[in-house]
Amino acid sequence: MSDSKPSKTMLWGGRFTGGLDPLMVAYNESIYHDRAFYAQDIAGSVAYARQNAKLGILTQDEFAAIEKGFGQVKEEWASGRFEIRPGVDEDIHTANERRLGEIIGTHIAGKLHTGRSRNDQVATDLRMWLREELRKIEAHLVEFLSVVAKRAEKEIDPVMPGYTHLQRAQPIRWAHWMLSFGHQFALDLERLREVVKRVNRCPLGCGALAGNPFGIDREALAQELGFEGIVYNSMAGVGDRDFALEAMQWGSTIMMHLSRWAEDLIIYSSAEFGFVRLADAYSTGSSLMPQKKNPDSLELLRGKAGRAFGQMAGLQMTIKGIPSTYNKDLQESVEPLIDHVKTVSDSIQIATGVISTLDINADAMRKALTPDMLATDLADYLVRKGVPFRETHHISGRCVALAEKEQVPMDTLSLEQLQAIDSRFGPDIIESFDYEKSVEMRSAKGGTSKSSVLEQIAVLKKTLEAN
Ligand code: ARG
Repeated sequence: MSDSKPSKTMLWGGRFTGGLDPLMVAYNESIYHDRAFYAQDIAGSVAYARQNAKLGILTQDEFAAIEKGFGQVKEEWASGRFEIRPGVDEDIHTANERRLGEIIGTHIAGKLHTGRSRNDQVATDLRMWLREELRKIEAHLVEFLSVVAKRAEKEIDPVMPGYTHLQRAQPIRWAHWMLSFGHQFALDLERLREVVKRVNRCPLGCGALAGNPFGIDREALAQELGFEGIVYNSMAGVGDRDFALEAMQWGSTIMMHLSRWAEDLIIYSSAEFGFVRLADAYSTGSSLMPQKKNPDSLELLRGKAGRAFGQMAGLQMTIKGIPSTYNKDLQESVEPLIDHVKTVSDSIQIATGVISTLDINADAMRKALTPDMLATDLADYLVRKGVPFRETHHISGRCVALAEKEQVPMDTLSLEQLQAIDSRFGPDIIESFDYEKSVEMRSAKGGTSKSSVLEQIAVLKKTLEAN
């Protein structure tokens, strides 16, 4: 495994003379995770070298050699030819610099790090990597929501039971259900755009903690690296992982929404409900029971939400007690962040696959509707005749009880039976026993009527455009 002697090529090897516990070498290294940032690390170094050349710390020739050398290092990573040296390449920063030295000579490569520390370097790499990943996630989320919007438009007619406490409550449109999550996810999209802004501030030039002594142009660094601005305090620049934490808090929230969304669909896809049928591409069979089709994709969405939340909570615990500026504890942000981001990104794409391929059974939705779900409409009928709602609620309750006692659906109670409960029921009461009418009655903004649902679709689409 690792070489226990500190190598001369280890950047801080000069001070350490004793042997290192090989397990400590492995325990300390982050290269197998932070190599994900190789391109960002190189871009940051090139920008940094360019500014140092402007300051005269590097000659133009030295800068050109560094830029060219890094071109090769990058190519090696991209093609999978970069050879990590176990026990020597502690992290991506040391690995890239070590390789650059081999290519262009350590005399020039050794000047690269002037005034810089891995503390501002890793914070810069992390922020660049994260903002790029978050932008990809944003595109996936927009894609997901446009499928939801399209599907809601196309499937605006089917009516199904809406539930509270998982008990049949009132009729809703299937499209309304889709949009109920659609609108929560749309807020996630808005939040994401905010999070990216805070991630996208440049800490390069903060040095180890106290800033840069050579007057480096931090604004120019930020600009070259595509940042929207800089982190204004050098100690905060190196010691702050709030951007990573906030991204994970965001990720935990969207995973929570995906988990609840998945849970509804798991229920709706069961034989007892039968409202939806998942495509084969997102289900698996049972190794024992040939008849089974399991909603694994949805169960994994629900399960991975727990994992994503755990990574976020873990990092928050890691950070909470450390003294200010950089401490090695912060390296523990890398692995969970990378995994968290991948989980969230994959999950949104899986959700898109699920929703764009599932079939609905409008007939099963319709059959699950029962007249008692219109009890509120019965009460509302009397409200329209001037009866106070508290009274109508009670009257309608008596109708429900009578139907239960007679063991008949509520809509088959005769006008006489209804009038025996309350004389204000008229022959037009029969029109209230209509699921379509019930959803259409709720035409105030946000309700189940066609016009309300169409408005929800329009609002959702607008969120997708805005940027
Ligand atoms: N691999 C380290 C990390 O991810 C880089 C920074 C190391 N800095 C230091 N002072 N040891 O945090």
